[in-house]
Amino acid sequence: MRDVTCPYSKEVMNHFRNPHNLGEMNEADGIGKVGNPLCGDVMRIYIKVSESEKGEEIIKDIKFQTFGCVAAIATSSMVTELAKGKTIDEAMKITRNNVADSLDGLPPIKMHCSNLAADALHAAIKDYKSKKLQSEDVVI
Ligand code: FES
Repeated sequence: MRDVTCPYSKEVMNHFRNPHNLGEMNEADGIGKVGNPLCGDVMRIYIKVSESEKGEEIIKDIKFQTFGCVAAIATSSMVTELAKGKTIDEAMKITRNNVADSLDGLPPIKMHCSNLAADALHAAIKDYKSKKLQSEDVVI
């Protein structure tokens, strides 16, 4: 049940007050940086990828830094939870609706904030893939 004075779900407020995977990551394998031109909020996601026994690329560790609103911080926290331990292909399929649904919804006016989280995750994975391609080019 929602507090009538607060537009956010309990889950949003939990992630805002106690963000998961907050911070910078040294020597990240991929970094995604996105900004929302409408509000000026900025989000960075850092990932560490390792290979599983099956040869799958797994997001072993993930962190975020966000300068933004309540929803931006809560969605950053949630997207890191959703992506941790997933393969990079699975993580690429995480959508803004997955993030918002996992937080028990966002006010419609705040849905764009969840875009930022999904976009930053996808940008980090793309950055990882492009760095990997470059390093393979060097080896060949
Ligand atoms: Fe800018 Fe939420 S208002 S991301």
